[in-house]
Amino acid sequence: MKKHLFFLLISLLLLSCKQQKEESKMDNFIDSLMSEMTLQEKLGQLNLPVTGDIVTGQAQSSNIAEKIRNGEVGGLFNLKGVNAIREVQRIAVEESRLHIPLLFGMDVIHGYETVFPIPLAVACTWDTEAAAAMARVSAIEATADGISWTFSPMADVCCDARWGRISEGFGEDPCLTAAMTAAMVNGYQLGDLSDSTTMMACLKHFALYGAPEAGREYNTVELGRYRMFNDYFPPYRAAVEEGVGSVMASFNTLEGVPATCNKWLLTDLLREQWGFQGMVVSDYTGVYELINHGVAANLHEASQMALRAGLDMDMVAEGLPSLNDDKSLIPAINTACRRILEAKYKLGLFADPYRYCDETRAATQIYNEENRQEAREVARKSLVLLKNNNQLLPLSKQSTIALIGPLADTRANMPGTWSVAAVSSKYKTLREGLEQAVSGKGKVLYAKGCNLMYDAKMEADATMFGREMRDNRSVEVMISEAMQIARQADVIVCAMGESSEMSGECSSRTNLEMPDAQHDLLEKLLTVGKPIVLLNFSGRPVILNWENEHLDAIMQVWFAGSEAADAIADVLYGDFCPSGKLAVAFPRSVGQLPMTYRHYNTGRPLPEGKDDFSKFVSCYMDCNNSPLFPFGYGLSYTSFEYSEITVSHNELCNNGRADITVTVTNSGKRDADEVVQLYIRDLVSCPVRPVCELRDWQHIQLAAGESQTVCFVIDKDMLGFYDAQGNYSTPAGDYQIMVGPNSEQLKKATISIE
Ligand code: BGC
Repeated sequence: MKKHLFFLLISLLLLSCKQQKEESKMDNFIDSLMSEMTLQEKLGQLNLPVTGDIVTGQAQSSNIAEKIRNGEVGGLFNLKGVNAIREVQRIAVEESRLHIPLLFGMDVIHGYETVFPIPLAVACTWDTEAAAAMARVSAIEATADGISWTFSPMADVCCDARWGRISEGFGEDPCLTAAMTAAMVNGYQLGDLSDSTTMMACLKHFALYGAPEAGREYNTVELGRYRMFNDYFPPYRAAVEEGVGSVMASFNTLEGVPATCNKWLLTDLLREQWGFQGMVVSDYTGVYELINHGVAANLHEASQMALRAGLDMDMVAEGLPSLNDDKSLIPAINTACRRILEAKYKLGLFADPYRYCDETRAATQIYNEENRQEAREVARKSLVLLKNNNQLLPLSKQSTIALIGPLADTRANMPGTWSVAAVSSKYKTLREGLEQAVSGKGKVLYAKGCNLMYDAKMEADATMFGREMRDNRSVEVMISEAMQIARQADVIVCAMGESSEMSGECSSRTNLEMPDAQHDLLEKLLTVGKPIVLLNFSGRPVILNWENEHLDAIMQVWFAGSEAADAIADVLYGDFCPSGKLAVAFPRSVGQLPMTYRHYNTGRPLPEGKDDFSKFVSCYMDCNNSPLFPFGYGLSYTSFEYSEITVSHNELCNNGRADITVTVTNSGKRDADEVVQLYIRDLVSCPVRPVCELRDWQHIQLAAGESQTVCFVIDKDMLGFYDAQGNYSTPAGDYQIMVGPNSEQLKKATISIE
């Protein structure tokens, strides 16, 4: 044992010596390069214009090539294709005075050409290896095509389904989000970026972008620091601890100061308190937007404020690069320039500017069988079975199904929002996936049945990038075609919900019910009297009260990526047993939002076990407090039973640990996976703690009839929380420990900390 420890210490020492040597080599290289740079060239490094076809904000840059030759550009983003990137890199390294290579960034959010499910869906796997695999495949494909920097992961915790970007995060819980975020960073960077299939990750959006008032995109955020540290910061911090190379400042204000120029956030917290050493980039025109926020009178002032606060690189606004007239800014300019050059150095771009331009890799490693298989595997794990009356699912491949709905035969809607590099012509529609799955056995009859919604203008907004064709037939004709095939089928399978652009950036919504035309069609289909399965497509939790009351089965299929059609077929026909669990609750009403299972108790809580109205307690007159489907919830094709929990030590001293054990039994007829969840509650505390907080979980595989004892280890550290200054501690007292299949069905025990 002692010998092992000795060798471990020696290896750590050697590693740290090697790192120090590397760092001093990098410092010397950058010192010497910077000594040759003019102020204008240094400012050029702070400039990140956009190129390519994708425009997400207000401006599009121009004259890029000229600027690159003049050393006025540090990087470019959203340019796709290894040849295009090689050519632009060539201009930078052959035609600019100092031959400094460019960074090539892209929003590779949930895959490149092989698209994985939207991140919210990946969170429903509760599988950090799935998140890491998504990041790994993304990095392999993107780096083969010239990209060295991705604007991902998004670590914004969100408890408000009105906000369309909830689709890009990992849900409502800071603990699950932190684990997924860290796994993504590691999948992209593999620790140190030395491998040429790694790319620099960008943690976004720093900070609190997921808590905009009223769920409206880009809106103000106002939260006390106690809530920030406990409910929103842990995922950002986890990414910093994982060594994320860059951070993106968010669009929102915080304590009245936009994040883009918020010194407390970008310097005091991020760098000084958490020790982040990489570069910070603004969001798209974030610097310019300081004028609209009302904190700066013009772009020049805005840029000064941002630089002084700790921002290093300006995405699109080109404000930072114009700061050449104020000598007092020179130290900050030098620091920002150095951080950007360091990122390029760590990515190996000075050693080989074409490191990420490997045409052979591009030809063989993008959207290949292996990557697609990985994406299909993650996609089927991400689907969440919400209801399954009389075990209607899985369907038999021999049956005749009537596949109906505006999402049934669309290619472009499969990958989901933020699939910048997707080539949807390569992907199957759901109809094609199901037809292939039953070929030679059963039948898939198809009718669109209705448009996305009655309002053509709203449908155009919801399919803005030309992704959907509106059907010009009359409502009656479309419904009657659907009714006809429904009558011939054994089961009606409805592919309905949101189009992919109804979530994502700038897709806030105030009505989260099934869009009108689709709801009316569902009502008509009910009259046929056949069992109905709803495959609900959405990038956020939606309101499914009516559907839950009237339909036989509901499966939440999110937007599951390029392999969605096959993955949905796998689960629908039972080749794969569903195991997804909600990473965010589905509310009963938009009026409940924002909502989270991690709420505080209030001075007048509803009595335990009661969920409807009671006068003078904290509740609604017209809606239960609870969600329709809680955080952590998801059914399987089998059933599980949980024993009471046992605790090895009821009292924990300082370095003590307690084993929490529970026996889980697969009481159904199919082998299946289950996610066993551990929650805690600090029973008496000032400041108050939430009524329930996720702290750990485990995946188990159980054959039909099999039981397994699951053991969680609790130590003092796992039970603590942050104060409003960000100090972590675990007070003495009693803690409830809860284990179960979701955040509501929990077995409880108590332990105390001395
Ligand atoms: C988004 C960012 C994204 C950037 C670049 C912005 O509008 O908020 O998440 O990385 O555009 O496309």
